[in-house]
Amino acid sequence: MTPSARITGSGSYLPARILSNKDLEQIVDTTEDWIFSRSGIRQRHIAAEDEFTSDLALAASREALQSAGRSASEVDLIVVATTTADQVFPSTACLLQERLGIRGCPAFDVQAVCAGFLYALDVVYRYVATGASQCALVVGAETFSRILNWEDRTTCVLFGDGAGAMVVEASDSPGILSSHIHADGTYKDLLCVPVGVSTAYQEILNGRAYTEMQGKEVFRWAVSALGDAVIEVLTTNGMDKAEIDWLVPHQANIRIIKAIAKRLDLSMDQVVVTIDQHGNTSAASVPLAFDAAVKDGRIQSGDKVIFEAFGGGFTWGSMLVQI
Ligand code: COA
Repeated sequence: MTPSARITGSGSYLPARILSNKDLEQIVDTTEDWIFSRSGIRQRHIAAEDEFTSDLALAASREALQSAGRSASEVDLIVVATTTADQVFPSTACLLQERLGIRGCPAFDVQAVCAGFLYALDVVYRYVATGASQCALVVGAETFSRILNWEDRTTCVLFGDGAGAMVVEASDSPGILSSHIHADGTYKDLLCVPVGVSTAYQEILNGRAYTEMQGKEVFRWAVSALGDAVIEVLTTNGMDKAEIDWLVPHQANIRIIKAIAKRLDLSMDQVVVTIDQHGNTSAASVPLAFDAAVKDGRIQSGDKVIFEAFGGGFTWGSMLVQI
């Protein structure tokens, strides 16, 4: 019998510095109310100057391992989802591996921006379900503040920094029930940082690698793609909407989250919302939200949970998990 891939632990980390909407009024031409009413965000965390994505990933990973009752030496696969790697190479996963004090197991990054954690978890799911990994560490970690133009009010008010991690283990009990990831590169220009080491290295050296976004189009597309994605996961599992206990959505905009909850006939009491506190932390958003709801006791063992996320690319996906 093929093993299932169970989430056996989770952890998270948020940088100490909090930037409120009120603080942002001093930085760009905006208001506290505009940001909250359009996005649901009240504040976000911002990494210190000497704090890097691997630092955030390490803190979240340690907590996840502790909650799973595992030591780092038991980890046989590390996958990190990030858009904001410490270095061009080695991967953040390799940096994390070294800092966890382990050697030899595969460690690599996955890049799917805000859908990155679902992509990373999809990879881990398939490794564990085929018996190639027994105990995997999967992390979403971002210092997204580093790729924001702090003079562009249409983007800089929406994002924040943070990390979330999960331990996924081979098990005889149910775990991840199905995973569905998608991409459509024809939308590459609607949400992007349009420079990279190969195309415009000087821009990066000058610190001008900024996120650009056509907000309205991204919004419309996210609602449509995520709506289809949550129906896809239900249909695949022959499951009724009423059987879902929790939705743990990507935290990009409260209005997108509400639209997807409506598609699933879920009350907002069954939706984990952290956007007000975290903003959009890209690949870290789903594991951060999941960990918050595990820590406060909302998500319990046996619960059926849908994860969904949407990001630049476009990339998107959904997953059904029994906890
Ligand atoms: N403060 C005040 N005004 C702002 C502003 C800000 N921070 N940012 C934009 N505005 C202005 C616009 O310039 C526009 O002014 P105009 O009408 O004079 O041109 C006005 O507010 C309305 O902007 P609009 O773009 O229509 O707002 P919106 O209701 O579409 O909300 C977003 C904007 C960005 C919040 C929304 O489109 C969104 O969330 N999109 C999806 C973004 C997302 O989720 N991205 C990540 C996906 S992973």
